[in-house]
Amino acid sequence: MDDRLTRILTEAKEQIKKAASVSDTEEIRVRVLGKQGQLTEILRSMGKLSHEEKKALGQDANSVKVEIEKLLEEKFEAVKGSALEEQFRTEKIDVTEPGIARTLGVKHPITLTINEISAIFMSMGFSIAEGPEVDTVFNNFDALNAPQNHPSRDMSDTFYITENTLLRTHTSPVQVRTLMNQPLPIKVVVPGRCFRCDTPDATHSPMFHQVEGLLVDEGVTMADLKGTLDCFAKRIFGADVRTKFRPHYFPFTEPSAEVDVSCFKCGGIGCRMCKWSGWIEIMGCGMVHPNVLRAGGIDPEVYSGFAFGVGLERMTMRRYAINDLRLFFENDLRFLGQF
Ligand code: PHE
Repeated sequence: MDDRLTRILTEAKEQIKKAASVSDTEEIRVRVLGKQGQLTEILRSMGKLSHEEKKALGQDANSVKVEIEKLLEEKFEAVKGSALEEQFRTEKIDVTEPGIARTLGVKHPITLTINEISAIFMSMGFSIAEGPEVDTVFNNFDALNAPQNHPSRDMSDTFYITENTLLRTHTSPVQVRTLMNQPLPIKVVVPGRCFRCDTPDATHSPMFHQVEGLLVDEGVTMADLKGTLDCFAKRIFGADVRTKFRPHYFPFTEPSAEVDVSCFKCGGIGCRMCKWSGWIEIMGCGMVHPNVLRAGGIDPEVYSGFAFGVGLERMTMRRYAINDLRLFFENDLRFLGQF
């Protein structure tokens, strides 16, 4: 047999023996049997040889090829298993290792209060309505019976966008929208953001939140208003709080009242939280003014209703003992993460 063939065979045998992986083995196959492999090279160079020589070399080369192929195949079979084992070993998952902690967000304290108030009123059959933060002067003031010279209309109190549009100063314009658009009877609460020209300090912010409430049906009386809001106060502050309806003025309700609850911290004896009065003011309310019903296209001779508006920032501050309103809007995660 040709020397070169003998050498190729011996070398290949040796290398195949040593090969320890699929890739080692594949490398040898390419080097010897591949398109530019050693054996292929020899077969290609046979052109110059005589017929006899060609035949002899061809046969030898072929048997060398067959032998190497067989060895390679055996090797492939042998290392295939160990390749799998290797993979199993390196890709093993230690299920006892602690997982990667994902930081979960929490709800903003104002959102928590909105959700809680909404849930209480929903349990009494109210549904949720919403309105835009930019609304018309008509919805925010005119339709709510605000006199032309009412101080809250002033540029120094209200952010005007144009002559006829503004950032709503309360959620009450949604009363108007609801009266105009929803079929009677109406029973909604309206959480939302409001804006007034206030300089931020510990108890004021030019942006704040309210939940408005509106109920309109035949035969609704002040007793319904008081019963509903007393129930609400007990649900949110505790069953033993008492409520007090103090006469007040709002252009869009008549009669109007502010609602005080007995201080849920001291029980009414007097403490710092209630400024030693025993009472805490929580909301405004009243019977919907006939002019407001009319502006909403509803006959005040047939229908009556009540409305209320709760400010959320102060209520939330008291519930969670937060001493600065600005904390709500500074987005400091150390603060927000506590709720
Ligand atoms: N809109 C009033 C305010 O912002 C609150 C209110 C709502 C009062 C509904 C009566 C009825 O102060």
